[in-house]
Amino acid sequence: MCGIIGYIGEKEANDILISGLEKLEYRGYDSAGVAIAHESQIKINKVKGRVENLKSITIIGNIGIAHTRWATHGKPCQENAHPFVDETNNFAIVHNGIIENYLELKEELSREGVSFSSNTDSEIIVHLIAKNYHDNLKEAVLKTIKKLAGAYAFCVIKKDASEIIGARNGSPLVVGIADSENFLASDVSALIEHTKKVVYLNDFQIAELKKDSCKVYNFDGVEENYEIKEINWTLEKAQKQGYKHFMLKEIFEQPDIIRETMKVPIAIEKNFSRIIMVACGTASYAGLIGKYLIEKLAKIPVTYEIASEFRYKEPLISKEDLVVAISQSGETADTLAAIRLAKEKGAKTLGIINVIDSTIAREVDKVIYTRAGPEIGVASTKAFLSQLMIIYKLAFNLSDQEELLEYIDDIILKIKSILSRSEEIKELAHNYYLSHNFLYIGRNLSFPLALEGALKLKEISYIHAEAYPAGELKHGPIALVSEEMPTLAICPKDAVYPKTFSNIEEIKAREGKVISIATEGDEDIKKISDEVFYVPEVKEIFYPLICCIPLQLFAYHIADFKECDIDKPRNLAKSVTVE
Ligand code: G6P
Repeated sequence: MCGIIGYIGEKEANDILISGLEKLEYRGYDSAGVAIAHESQIKINKVKGRVENLKSITIIGNIGIAHTRWATHGKPCQENAHPFVDETNNFAIVHNGIIENYLELKEELSREGVSFSSNTDSEIIVHLIAKNYHDNLKEAVLKTIKKLAGAYAFCVIKKDASEIIGARNGSPLVVGIADSENFLASDVSALIEHTKKVVYLNDFQIAELKKDSCKVYNFDGVEENYEIKEINWTLEKAQKQGYKHFMLKEIFEQPDIIRETMKVPIAIEKNFSRIIMVACGTASYAGLIGKYLIEKLAKIPVTYEIASEFRYKEPLISKEDLVVAISQSGETADTLAAIRLAKEKGAKTLGIINVIDSTIAREVDKVIYTRAGPEIGVASTKAFLSQLMIIYKLAFNLSDQEELLEYIDDIILKIKSILSRSEEIKELAHNYYLSHNFLYIGRNLSFPLALEGALKLKEISYIHAEAYPAGELKHGPIALVSEEMPTLAICPKDAVYPKTFSNIEEIKAREGKVISIATEGDEDIKKISDEVFYVPEVKEIFYPLICCIPLQLFAYHIADFKECDIDKPRNLAKSVTVE
């Protein structure tokens, strides 16, 4: 992933770059760095960890590039932090993506006597540029990209040059245009406080930015026209508003988010015979709930696909398919690739996206925005619920059962009542936060929810958690059950209740501890569970909307007891723009 930014203008670049990086930190926070060209010298400030750590040093100069990293090749440390310079310190680059043939290129360069200062794939780019440079930076970049395989967006500066060059192939890069200054960045959020005029670069384009000009070329060096887009949204400044973490605040925002998302118009032309849901992570579980729901209500076949698998398995896609991409960021590389593949095959495409004007939002035939607002916590909560809400609306629309929306006001009240019992879940979490492993089980609509609950726990508390369809337990995972392996069972009063109930009995018979999420008034479940968290009764199809709340709070409180870095969990990033 990684976030990159470049500035050229009349102002001091340092603070502009660092504040831009802070907006891009959701893309990774393993290390950060700045390079600024000034008086024929490139000066570098690189740190391990957060962008914040860059602030103790200020570099002078008006041309610079900067980077916040999510490690792919080479561990997170200062040596592997970007920007990288060549051996003569003439050039500096920042890179987002993966250079797949870097080993081969590294060997080639090593044979020519180049020595490397890092273990990254990215560093080879700067050495190639230095090698290919004669008297024109753009020409050196064009020559260099001919050698690169993989996905990238990178920016390069020369110590005495008056331009920044940015190249895009598979990773996002946007130009910001302003008076006597121009910008490059991984996304608009890093630029929006400086300009509303942007140029979204396409793949296989490079941008040559000077203080007063922007030129765009294709990879053959032919100049291309571009469209300047006016951004008509502002960056809502997300603040914790007294909550200990963004994640907790975002969990508590959910009743408002549902209300907001309810207003989104859903008018879908019913000109397809199958839906294919593609997504990654939490968004994919929203897609799986969509499969259960749409098939149940609208009787339309829905396939559910993990985007990273979908794209390489030669999927059968036809013109009769509607491919639905679900993504908070709208930038996830695998989901984007799946959409591109679908378009290539002539399928119709729909995006359920949170971030306005993101790449997937721009590329799909039709986009529905989820209106969750900025989600800062890396582990998705309110974006997930807003995706679910859109999926419910879609299912009602496709099945001509829009009257079901009438229940949502009541659901909102019930979610509020669950949120008001956060302390109850905290106590529950206290009893289990020292566990090393967890099982999560559910059937039918509760199965995708079990997957999401387990993912939340893994992501923020680093506790190993596995989710299974409750009925599948006996085919293997039940061997794991012991006093040390608690199970969280999602068992509301729905059509499969007696079946899940029996599965809980099977766990109890083997001395496993069980925490059940059950419907108020269900006294029987108390007899077979060690702990029960009751949720209010709702119409069967709506249980996912309310059962996800205790799962989120459970993971949150466990992670808080463990004193984990909840909003920025280790090894993760919010937007994953590498494969
Ligand atoms: C990352 C995030 C997850 C998210 C997934 C998909 O792995 O850490 O929280 O669910 O990407 O992201 P998207 O932006 O496509 O919803």
